[in-house]
Amino acid sequence: MSGAASHFDEQAARYPDSVGEDFTQAQKWALIAAHASAGALALDIGAANGRHALPFAASGGRVVAMDPSPAMLARLAGRAAAAGHGARVLACGGGMPDLPFAPGRFDLVYCFATLLLLPPRAQEEAIGEMAALLRPGGTLIVDVAGARSLSIRYWRRYYRRRGLDGVFGRTQDGVMALLGRHGLSVQAVHAHGLLSQFLLLPGLGGIGPLVRCVRGLPGRPGLDAALSRVLPGLAERWYVVARRDGGDD
Ligand SMILES: C[S@@+](CC[C@H](N)C(=O)[O-])C[C@H]1O[C@@H](n2cnc3c(N)ncnc32)[C@H](O)[C@@H]1O
Repeated sequence: MSGAASHFDEQAARYPDSVGEDFTQAQKWALIAAHASAGALALDIGAANGRHALPFAASGGRVVAMDPSPAMLARLAGRAAAAGHGARVLACGGGMPDLPFAPGRFDLVYCFATLLLLPPRAQEEAIGEMAALLRPGGTLIVDVAGARSLSIRYWRRYYRRRGLDGVFGRTQDGVMALLGRHGLSVQAVHAHGLLSQFLLLPGLGGIGPLVRCVRGLPGRPGLDAALSRVLPGLAERWYVVARRDGGDD
């Protein structure tokens, strides 16, 4: 995990701190927001600079924001204090698969763009820990990379060149089985990235109108979301909402 910490330390100064300018990024927050209510206690794993933890606190929730990167956490704590949310955001150093919290305490656990950095066995362990941290009936929101996507090779090479293990995906059926093994019932799956992964090809990502048309805008799906919905098995990423079994709600 120290490799990840130093890589993301370097990213901290320029990592996006808003909830996102395209449909795919904004949908992360839209899913979290559906569970962001006064008094809810959340765990944000891979919280980075607090791009989701701060709005969660602003909505009246309390959040433990965990990340192995000291520089990310320093930005998160500074931003939370500046926004007057210091009392509702607890910055916590550490990372998956070791989640040192008491079981059954959280209403919501969310984890975006982070699980894919772990090898398959560590992903399995981390999902088991996330499930155990939820109260019965609590909600897990997590994204999982698609093993059959094209871009997984690009991102694997990108991270390996930077000294990390790479990125690791699963099949859609594999994701369902993984969650089921840990007592999590899938409520919703949102597929992304089938088309937008081609924007990684040289030159295409710089064509603004094309990028907007493919990626869409917050609240307005682009071509990517439409195509990913038709062929979800080939998506680059699935955003999954799952509920821990038990509980009344
Ligand atoms: C790509 S960023 C994603 C940040 C944010 N969740 C988002 O959706 O924009 C990945 C974050 O996960 C953190 N991270 C890396 N390895 C981790 C691990 N094993 N456990 C928890 N967080 C980790 C990094 O330091 C970084 O801040």
